[in-house]
Amino acid sequence: MNTIQCTINGHNKTIESPPMKRLLDVLREDLHLTGTKEGCGEGECGACAVLMDGDLVNSCLVPVLQADGSKITTIEGLAIDEKLHSIQQCFLDEGGAQCGICTPGMILATHHLLEKHPQPTLLQIQEGLNGNLCRCTGYMRIFKAVQQAALVGAEK
Ligand code: FES
Ligand code: FES
Repeated sequence: MNTIQCTINGHNKTIESPPMKRLLDVLREDLHLTGTKEGCGEGECGACAVLMDGDLVNSCLVPVLQADGSKITTIEGLAIDEKLHSIQQCFLDEGGAQCGICTPGMILATHHLLEKHPQPTLLQIQEGLNGNLCRCTGYMRIFKAVQQAALVGAEK
């Protein structure tokens, strides 16, 4: 067992864990942050994406030891109290979520994209989300949700 200290959604956490346990499993099983989803488990789908020190990472590929000292944001860290983050609201309004498995990762990827490109072109949106797969929406409603989020200034 190792002791890992990190900040998750603004809260300092001390975690006792086998060092190679996947960050995804620590989030879901140990910290009960089940908003982060597992899709492929192989780094291909982006369902498990979280922000780690500002980078978008697939938490199924991150041994928890690697998260020591880092700042992590999961989907639970975006909403403030009962109020959805504006990116979440835009996905809801535009029908960008159907089964919801890809949605937390898509929303965090959108957050990451809009920080880099507050007014992204369609190509930048497609590139920014190209690590996130969706089997339900056909992507057009997701792209629309991202465009709407950019319009309302979701990077704020
Ligand atoms: S579950 Fe991690 S990338 Fe698919
Ligand atoms: S909404 Fe089902 S996989 Fe995207």
